[in-house]
Amino acid sequence: MTDRYAVIGHPISHSKSPMIYQAFAAQTHQDMSYEAIEAPLDGFKATIERLVSEGYKGCNVTVPFKFEALKLCKQLTGRAQAAQAVNTLFFRDGAIFGDNTDGVGLLADIEQNLKCKLLFKKVLLMGAGGAAHGVIWQLFNAGVTITVANRTVEKAQQLVSEFAPYGTVIASSYEALAGKTFDVVVNATSSSLADELPPLPEGLFAPQALAYDMMYGKQTPFLKFAAEQGAAQLADGLGMLVEQAAEAFFKWREVRPDTAPVIARLRA
Ligand code: ATR
Repeated sequence: MTDRYAVIGHPISHSKSPMIYQAFAAQTHQDMSYEAIEAPLDGFKATIERLVSEGYKGCNVTVPFKFEALKLCKQLTGRAQAAQAVNTLFFRDGAIFGDNTDGVGLLADIEQNLKCKLLFKKVLLMGAGGAAHGVIWQLFNAGVTITVANRTVEKAQQLVSEFAPYGTVIASSYEALAGKTFDVVVNATSSSLADELPPLPEGLFAPQALAYDMMYGKQTPFLKFAAEQGAAQLADGLGMLVEQAAEAFFKWREVRPDTAPVIARLRA
């Protein structure tokens, strides 16, 4: 019997996940289906319960349900706990297990696809909301020093406080970044959605710096600024999208898909 999977979000019609997973399934000869399901804003739990009762094997969870998904799980991976958000669910014997592959997806894109090795690098993570929370643990594990800049500095301070015992993680305002340089600058704010640029000082990018916007699908003010400021490498979040999906696919199917042709197809 064909194993069924889905992505649940609101809205969901523009999701690229069905195309990505169908490509992975074809490539690795998996007998599975994958569809996009829009849950009503107050109907996430009911939607999950329906999928479980209908025998689905698992699903992905996207905005705005990643926190609600965490609450439904009987068991969580460490990286889902650290992110306080779940993007991948597994259903087995009526129980729900939760994982978060966003951080691994970002890392795979930066280190493997963009060939930027992170160990000992100075990273600036912009933003302290859900997107930043989802990736900071994995970034930290890559052996970097992290500065988290946020408009609301208290939120950045809260985010870094859990890591302070283990290494160098600093909370900062945008103004206090003046005079500092970074090897990697990751935009995990929602500013690009609104076509806005966080108030970054000039001269932020070290030689060979990578500027990474977790948003994809358009030229963002941040990537435009980074290009003008001389960042050596620019990347949007499309690679991360495919890589986080590949990690979820691997966990579900125990076979790792080749992401490069799928990223290339989405770019085309
Ligand atoms: P997400 O899940 O996308 O992270 P969120 O949890 O609402 O969404 O967080 C949005 C983040 O983007 C926050 O860090 C927010 O900064 P504040 O906490 O100071 O509000 C940041 N953000 C949104 N628009 C921004 C802008 N124009 N400039 C800088 N930061 C912005």
